[in-house]
Amino acid sequence: MELVFVTNNPGKLQEINSLLGDNFQLKSLKDIGFEGEIPETKPTLEGNASAKAFYIYDRFLVDCFADDTGLEVEVLNNQPGVFSARFAEMDRPVRYTGKKELTEANIEKLLKLMDGKKSRKARFRTVISLVLGGKELLFEGIVRGKITSEKRGEGGFGYDPVFIAEGHSKTFAQMSLEEKNRISHRAIAFRKLVSYLEGSRDIIDGNF
Ligand code: IMP
Repeated sequence: MELVFVTNNPGKLQEINSLLGDNFQLKSLKDIGFEGEIPETKPTLEGNASAKAFYIYDRFLVDCFADDTGLEVEVLNNQPGVFSARFAEMDRPVRYTGKKELTEANIEKLLKLMDGKKSRKARFRTVISLVLGGKELLFEGIVRGKITSEKRGEGGFGYDPVFIAEGHSKTFAQMSLEEKNRISHRAIAFRKLVSYLEGSRDIIDGNF
């Protein structure tokens, strides 16, 4: 069956493709000829994932899924959460043009806010909205851990240099991609999605 992943991020496509069996043909937005920007304006991860999936479903009438991820820090009332990507731009009239520059500023803001905080508990949370025939199902993946007091490691992206998963001593940025993909929030959510899709393939294909 064909399924559109509402993303143009090749890393994410590759990660889920490696989990999906041959029964699924995964397509990206580019594959279906969609080149625009999908607004992410909802106040929750669930809202954004859902809005993105229905944005494509309503226009193309294709089965699809979309994801949204945030870093939730307990002592900061779960901030940056849904605003993780543009945390540093929220309260300042600054627009960062470079992605690297924005990521640096996001981390710097987070570490400043965490200065002197006793609890450094945090979690990454991914929500996936799957829309099949216009009906929606949500899947969630969580990895708990803590925020370090300084950056460590060169790999990964986003907040990886300042996040250590529970039971580990390396930051996500110090892990290999395979190591991170085994335990990450996104991998957990993807695996739940894949297990649902594999389990209900006959129903989806109309074989019952
Ligand atoms: P997205 O929903 O996957 O685009 O993620 C939104 C933002 O959350 C990203 O721009 C990153 O700042 C952050 N983020 C998501 N996943 C990760 C991760 O695995 N490591 C570090 N930061 C992440």
